Amino acid sequence: MFTILKQLPADPILGLSVKFKADNNPNKIDLGAGIYKDVTGHTPVLACVKTAEQFRVDNETTKAYISSAGSALFNEKMTELILGDHKVITQNRVRTVSTPGGTGALRVAGEFIKTCTPGATIWVSNPTWANHQGVFKAAGLNIKTYPYYDYENNNLDFDGMLAALKQIPKEDAVLLHACCHNPSGMDLSKEQWQQVADVTKQIGFMPVVDMAYQGFGENLDADAYGLRLLANTVDQMIICSSCSKNFGLYRERIGACSIIGKSATAADIINSVLLNVVRVMYSMPPASGAAIVETILSSAELTTQWHGELKEMRDRINGVRQLLVDKLIENGVTRDFSFITTQNGMFSFLGIDKAQVQRLQDEFSIYIVGSSRISLAGISPDNVNYLTQSIAKVL
Ligand code: LMR
Repeated sequence: MFTILKQLPADPILGLSVKFKADNNPNKIDLGAGIYKDVTGHTPVLACVKTAEQFRVDNETTKAYISSAGSALFNEKMTELILGDHKVITQNRVRTVSTPGGTGALRVAGEFIKTCTPGATIWVSNPTWANHQGVFKAAGLNIKTYPYYDYENNNLDFDGMLAALKQIPKEDAVLLHACCHNPSGMDLSKEQWQQVADVTKQIGFMPVVDMAYQGFGENLDADAYGLRLLANTVDQMIICSSCSKNFGLYRERIGACSIIGKSATAADIINSVLLNVVRVMYSMPPASGAAIVETILSSAELTTQWHGELKEMRDRINGVRQLLVDKLIENGVTRDFSFITTQNGMFSFLGIDKAQVQRLQDEFSIYIVGSSRISLAGISPDNVNYLTQSIAKVL
């Protein structure tokens, strides 16, 4: 049976981390996967997470199964984090299940959509996170793309996006990034979100919002602006969220899939389908990440501490954006990279070609995704000179 298998290429993002680890160059720089790093290049466990973990060790009384939805308290707290005090919560129209990370949430969403409409099509932005297409394809959906990034001008192609959205059939689903667009760092303005919400309502396609970086853009509430506006405008939507980045819980694999229905009764039906989707895929989600998050979000003190730690991560990345642009100029680069300071979250495109990306890797041990997406968290005052000098050489 296995003889028909052929060697597959490594994942474009995770494969880079493996190569980076194996590289012996002391000057190597990892700008690959979207993982926060402090100035020393370390991905720390947040102090609020440490406290919550200790609390769990001291207070946990059983390892018995939880339900396919995961922890009810985590689901409640996540719903509030995502939607704030939104009317859809008071109207009892949201159902949330905890999932194995944001990727798990997307796969649950994909399976859910397939259950509603076998053979459905989901539209994703061009470009989008390298794994979006794979996850939805694995769930049996067809994938199509709508324009999003204007590579020539390093800007949003909003006209192209809106024109394409207007043509999408009402039975299709459309994936939108809530904030910190991965890979481009280009987000919609409030006015643009309004236009997207209007088209979504007018046509009636299903919005699926991926929010993997809440808190890494402007702040927790501002980053959820677009999805909350959509929830005001349309009757039904799907939200996939992740605690990997904002709680630094990457390997704990914890996220959530929240679905808004037209009514409380519709939401109950949705919930029953969600539980079924989960049961046949992985039965129930892992519990430890959820326990950490619910402990933090149930404590005013730990929540305040978390907000502070999240701000620190966000401020560092924003500072690095300016540092990178300044150092490129200092090291003689004349091309205009100032767009990097206007973008949000962990990523931007450098806008260099594949051969230049490969040269950075082969000659300078600088690891960047092939699309020229850089994860800014890998830049620090210690490596920025080497990085910008190397970029200057390949340009
Ligand atoms: C990324 O885009 O680098 C992160 O979301 C990590 C991943 O799983 O790809």
